[in-house]
Amino acid sequence: MSHSVGLLALYAVITTVTLNPAPPFPDWAYPVNPPGGQPATDDGTLIHVPDSGVALTRTQISTSSGPVADWHPEDHPPLPTILARATEPQGYACAYCHLPSGAGRPENAGLAGLPAAYIKQQVLAFREGSRPGSAPRRGPQGAMISVAKAVSDADLDVAAAYYAALKPASFIQVIEIETVPKTTVAGWTLVKAPGGGTEPIGNRVIEMAVDFERFEHRDARAPFVAYVPVGSIARGAELVATGAGDPSLRCETCHGPGLRGLANVPRLPGRSPSYLMRQLYDIRNGARTGGAAVLMKPIVARLSDEDMVAIVAYLASCPP
Ligand code: HEC
Ligand code: HEC
Repeated sequence: MSHSVGLLALYAVITTVTLNPAPPFPDWAYPVNPPGGQPATDDGTLIHVPDSGVALTRTQISTSSGPVADWHPEDHPPLPTILARATEPQGYACAYCHLPSGAGRPENAGLAGLPAAYIKQQVLAFREGSRPGSAPRRGPQGAMISVAKAVSDADLDVAAAYYAALKPASFIQVIEIETVPKTTVAGWTLVKAPGGGTEPIGNRVIEMAVDFERFEHRDARAPFVAYVPVGSIARGAELVATGAGDPSLRCETCHGPGLRGLANVPRLPGRSPSYLMRQLYDIRNGARTGGAAVLMKPIVARLSDEDMVAIVAYLASCPP
């Protein structure tokens, strides 16, 4: 008797779980390196990337305090010292992560062409703790927070003016697809699993460097591919055009014509879909509350996780 009660209780637990599944955390947008990884050793070999006359050692590329790798100096105006070198010997230079052209990488953010006032406001948000992100173990987020605490306001002015003046470019191709390669994490981004294989995309965006070596060499022209669910680009376009069903929340009202940014509101087209997903999710989740994030609250409250995936797929596919 007691045995069958036990089974019944177990059955009840299982049905509750299957009937009310918690929406899965979108960990594809917050890749965390597996423990125990070792940086590749430097045997002094000079490394090259396509279409660049620059040659650097692995140590030169991976020294986060700078001087940072600048493979394509013709892509941007002269790099101010504050972007090329950290203020502290153990610190990080802005352009180590956001790259000299401001292209950024999926694990951080593209900064080229963002309004200067917005850039400053966000660095202050990281500094004051109102932008911790939804995955506290994600190293790049923690590093951005420590940089925000270390940078002086005068240097921040220089950095904001520099990145705001850059012309944004996009190196991402967005492809609708049903089946994607199995992935693992390296360099805080998704990479193809060493064992190969494929799986259904589900409600995810799989954003990967096309050539992981170029990505690891911090080549700002390294191309990316983003696999997105079939139908998501058109669905995202509709959500953006209609303000997710509330015309008073149309994205262009605040993000400006073509969503190219205004005052202290960021630009959106052609940016990393994993980055954009983290922001929509963090704002809905209460892990991004600084600056003017409150203005986004009524929007994210209307969005399901499927809507968010559709929106970021569409935005990433737009010309920058
Ligand atoms: C160690 C890597 C790293 C360095 C160095 C770094 N950042 Fe960041 N930064 C990040 C990450 C990671 C994010 C995105 C966090 C997230 O996903 O929400 C970010 C985001 C930002 C954003 C927000 C962009 C947006 O659209 O909201 C701004 C602005 C920014 N960084 C400015 C700077 C400035 C200025 C410096 C130099 C003083 C700097 N960062 C140095 C990693 C870095
Ligand atoms: C009422 C004004 C307003 C509307 C309407 C609006 N936004 Fe925003 N959005 C903002 C502001 C302001 C920010 C910057 C928040 C901050 O200061 O942290 C922002 C930030 C964002 C970000 C984060 C970008 C980054 O660089 O980190 C995304 C993504 C975004 N909005 C998407 C959308 C989409 C999609 C829509 C339409 C469905 C939309 N927004 C409509 C005001 C608005």
